[in-house]
Amino acid sequence: MRFPHVRPRRLRAGKVIRDAVAETWIDARDFIYPVFVKPRGGVEEISSMPGQFRWPLGRELINHLEEALSVGVDKVILFGVVPDDVKDPHGTAGYDPNGVVPQAIKLIKDAFGDKLYVFADVCLCEYTDHGHCGVVKNNRVDNDSTIKLYAKEAVTYADAGVDFVAPSGMMDGQVAEIRRALDSHGFHDVGIMAYSAKYASAFYGPFRVAASSAPKFGDRRSYQMDPRNAREAVREVMLDVEEGADIVMVKPALAYLDVVKLVKDNVPWVPLAAYNVSGEYSMVKAAAGYIDVKVVTLEILTSIKRAGADLILTYHALEAAKWLRDGLPF
Ligand code: PBG
Repeated sequence: MRFPHVRPRRLRAGKVIRDAVAETWIDARDFIYPVFVKPRGGVEEISSMPGQFRWPLGRELINHLEEALSVGVDKVILFGVVPDDVKDPHGTAGYDPNGVVPQAIKLIKDAFGDKLYVFADVCLCEYTDHGHCGVVKNNRVDNDSTIKLYAKEAVTYADAGVDFVAPSGMMDGQVAEIRRALDSHGFHDVGIMAYSAKYASAFYGPFRVAASSAPKFGDRRSYQMDPRNAREAVREVMLDVEEGADIVMVKPALAYLDVVKLVKDNVPWVPLAAYNVSGEYSMVKAAAGYIDVKVVTLEILTSIKRAGADLILTYHALEAAKWLRDGLPF
């Protein structure tokens, strides 16, 4: 049968029937909220990311996370921001047990316990004076010495009580090295969310301002993926799964939805996260006045989920969760 008997519009006639046949739903529980923490000082709005802040360790951060929890955002991923004078070539501040991220983990876990799940990004670019994600030898980021430092960083976070570590440096073998180190220290239950297919992307620009982590020379193209490649992402994901990743990730999300779908179709048995990165967030904010920010944001998040993501790392988490209390605008 076809038209005039077949009329797909019947399924779109009103909100109730649209909701009844909707294939995709987003919920605050899909979100992981990225949070920037710094050792001290005042709460600072990040110039490149309106509505996002650098939080000193203290009451304001706890109040903010309380608000997040109250709208259903129960997962955060922490990024450390440190002053330039503690940065060095080896990113020592990244695996200092008294560093900003371990302290933040303890503070948050003391306040919320199991109610708030804490992920921590494992990388060195926020802590190295040259801004690269690892140790530089002969003008190259050295893979094998770098992953040893990631393992040390991960164990430091585990010691502080983190639930999941999230290695984002795109070094080969980083997941295996971290898994081994966690297990040998008794942290069998600390999970790994691997930034498996992380592209060398200009969409990270606002984040690098936020975390002052831009490389001082060169770029990250010798370790992050080439934007021209999709199939290679499946290989990266499969390697990370073999190495022990519990959750894998594609990053950025929006310009890489084909990659999200390809990974989900080919490796469907592993939870997949997608990172709706800083540039994607800031573009939406910058377009206010030209677009309906609320509807566009919810449309973007829905599309990332529809493409195959199970979890979405997003700076929109808090506002989206608030909007979702009134239901989706579709
Ligand atoms: C650290 C890291 C970056 C992001 C997450 N972890 C920056 C980079 O690789 O330069 C980017 C996140 C974003 O843009 O929102 N390696």
